[in-house]
Amino acid sequence: MSDSKKVFLVIGAGAGIGGHAAKRFAEGGYHAVLARRSDAEGLERLVGEIRDSGGEASGKLLDASLPDSIEDLVDDIERGIGPIESVLYNLGAQIGNRPLTDTPLRTFELGWRLGCFGLFRLAQCLLPRMAERGSGSLLVTSATAAVRGNAGQHSHAAAMGGRRMLCQTLNAEYAPKGVHVAHIVVDGSVDAPDTLGKLLGDRFEAYKQAKGEEGVIDPGVLADTYWHLAHQPRNCWTHEIDVRPFTDTPWWNDNPPAAIDTKSR
Ligand SMILES: NC(=O)c1ccc[n+]([C@@H]2O[C@H](COP(=O)([O-])OP(=O)(O)OC[C@H]3O[C@@H](n4cnc5c(N)ncnc54)[C@H](OP(=O)(O)O)[C@@H]3O)[C@@H](O)[C@H]2O)c1
Repeated sequence: MSDSKKVFLVIGAGAGIGGHAAKRFAEGGYHAVLARRSDAEGLERLVGEIRDSGGEASGKLLDASLPDSIEDLVDDIERGIGPIESVLYNLGAQIGNRPLTDTPLRTFELGWRLGCFGLFRLAQCLLPRMAERGSGSLLVTSATAAVRGNAGQHSHAAAMGGRRMLCQTLNAEYAPKGVHVAHIVVDGSVDAPDTLGKLLGDRFEAYKQAKGEEGVIDPGVLADTYWHLAHQPRNCWTHEIDVRPFTDTPWWNDNPPAAIDTKSR
């Protein structure tokens, strides 16, 4: 690759948000590095699609919950490919709905490791480097669970809520050093075969049909939002944004109380 290429790293690059963001940044001239846990074939396919359309990309299989995995990845990229200008932390902590008594301690802790601690580890090894260079962006995909706890969401909501606050503390410390931290609340379902698709299995296609046309977020469209966030001028940075399909009720209006009975007043 040429020396001038900026690097875009995605941690959690499946065929949904992660892979589409990688494609968008590669289209824009970045060398995209896609990291995911287990699907070597899927990784190869995404990297191949980027290369076939004239972009630069590399792939890495890694389990981000393991010690040193994220830190070694960042070191290897910065030494072997180039400085990471923009990074997307895209790992979720969704395990489906589980009542309190059916949420083992190890499950609760794994949610925190992936949703929150992994982001802290990434930030600790990468943000000081970005600050030294005076520029960089950290994009963090988030979910409704970051802003609203619900029954059965103990592990997920605790991890994502903590991650939202972590994004605010990182922003407070690193924005003045030139590093843009953006927290993207994805408040709706995504057409993501490797995550929601696997969670729903055979019901995925029927689910999308039931949601109707444009009732599910297209990760290719969302990728444009990520691109925009990473390239905002420094006088106008977004820290938090939320997105949902037009047919979905926003998280703050969901479960509305029964209509007010004005007659009984
Ligand atoms: N999908 C939705 O409906 C939805 C809705 C709201 C918010 N979100 C948020 O969107 C983000 C995920 O985006 P997406 O759903 O579109 O998924 P995606 O980008 O298609 O895929 C995410 C990838 O993360 C990888 N991953 C999981 N655990 C990992 C680990 N320990 N180490 C390394 N990689 C790991 C998986 O790789 P392998 O497949 O190789 O194991 C998976 O394919 C999450 O932050 C989630 O909270 C998603």
